[in-house]
Amino acid sequence: MDRIEALTGEILTSIANAADEQALEAARVSALGKKGVIAELMKGLGALSPEERKREGQRLNTLKDRVTEALAERREIIKRQALEARLASETVDVTLPVRPEPRGTIHPVRHVYQECIQIFGDLGFTVAEGPHIEDDFYNFTALNIPPEHPARQEHDTFYLRERADGTRKVLRTHTSPVQIRTMLSQKPPIRIIAPGRTFRSDSDQTHTPMFHQIEGLVIDETTHLGHLKWVLEEFCKAFFEVDKVKMRFRASHFPFTEPSMEVDIGYRRDGNQIRIGEGDQWLEILGSGMVHPNVLRASGLDPARYQGFAFGMGLDRITMLKYGIPDLRAFFEADLRWLRHYGFTALDLPTLAGGLS
Ligand code: PHE
Repeated sequence: MDRIEALTGEILTSIANAADEQALEAARVSALGKKGVIAELMKGLGALSPEERKREGQRLNTLKDRVTEALAERREIIKRQALEARLASETVDVTLPVRPEPRGTIHPVRHVYQECIQIFGDLGFTVAEGPHIEDDFYNFTALNIPPEHPARQEHDTFYLRERADGTRKVLRTHTSPVQIRTMLSQKPPIRIIAPGRTFRSDSDQTHTPMFHQIEGLVIDETTHLGHLKWVLEEFCKAFFEVDKVKMRFRASHFPFTEPSMEVDIGYRRDGNQIRIGEGDQWLEILGSGMVHPNVLRASGLDPARYQGFAFGMGLDRITMLKYGIPDLRAFFEADLRWLRHYGFTALDLPTLAGGLS
C-alpha cells in the first residue's frame, strides 16, 4: 500500500472519530491545512517525472475532494447530534406551576403606565409613540413655539451637539411632539394617548431630569371642551377607583392650545393615606386645551374643518397620589428595598375587569 492510500485511510478515520466541532476542525487542519499532510505531499511532486507528477497529482486532488466531502458529512452529523442533545436536556414541563413568589417587581410608574393604557383603551384611545431624541420641529416649532419664543427657555431643554446643517436635536421636553407625528401620519378621527419618558434639565424635590408624561389627543370635526372635561373626569374616577372626584380646571396658557387649562385634583391627607375626591388640598396633574389652529396647520390639517383637544399629564405625579408615595426622587434611585415595598407583582397585569391596583 503506498503513502497516499495509507493516508486516505488515516484521514478518513480521524474524521469519522471526531466527536465534536473542535476535533473535526483539528482533523481538517492536519489534512487540508497549509502545513497539512496533503500539502506536504504536494510539495514532493516537484521531484517526480512529468508523467508520475500528473498521475500522483490527480490522486492527491481526488484525495482532497474525498476529505472535503467526508468533513462536510461529519459536520452535519455532529450538528444534528448536538441539537438532539440540547433538545433532550432543555425540555420544559409547561404544566409545572409558576414559581409562587417572583423576585422582581414592576416599578410603580410602569404599573400606572399600564393602568392608563387600560383605562384610555376602554375609552377608545390607541397608543402612539415617538422618539426620545426629537427634532426641534416636533418638540417646539410645529407646536407653535417658534425660535426665540420664551417657552423654549421655560422648558430647560437638553440639547444635543449641533449638526453639520446647524440644527440640534433635543431630548423631548414633553410628549406633545407625538401629537404632531400622529397628525402627520394618520387621518382624523384621531384618538390617541402617548405615554413615555420626557426630559428637562431640572432637579429638586419635585423635579427629576427624566420623568414621565402621558399625552392625549382627540381630533375630528366636532370635539369640544366638554368632551375634554368628560374624558378627564372619567379617567380620574377610573384611575383613582372612586365614584366622585374633585377637579379644578384653571385657565392657563400653552402655545399649542387655545383655550388652555391646567387641571388640579382635590385630595385630603389622612395619616399616611391620601383620599382622592375629598378635602381641600389640590395637586396639579395636567395641562390641556383645544389644539391651536397653528398646530393643526403645521400638521397638515385644515383648522376650518378639524378641531380637537389635547392634554399632557404627569405620570409620576398621579402615581405618587394614587399609591401614597411621598418622594419623587426615590422613583429613580433603583433602591431594591424601595422597589420591593412599592413594586407590583410581575404577574399582576392591571385590567379593568380584573382590577387595576
Ligand atoms: N406639553 C405640556 C407640558 O408638558 C402639557 C400639555 C399637553 C398642555 C397638551 C396642553 C396640551 O407642560
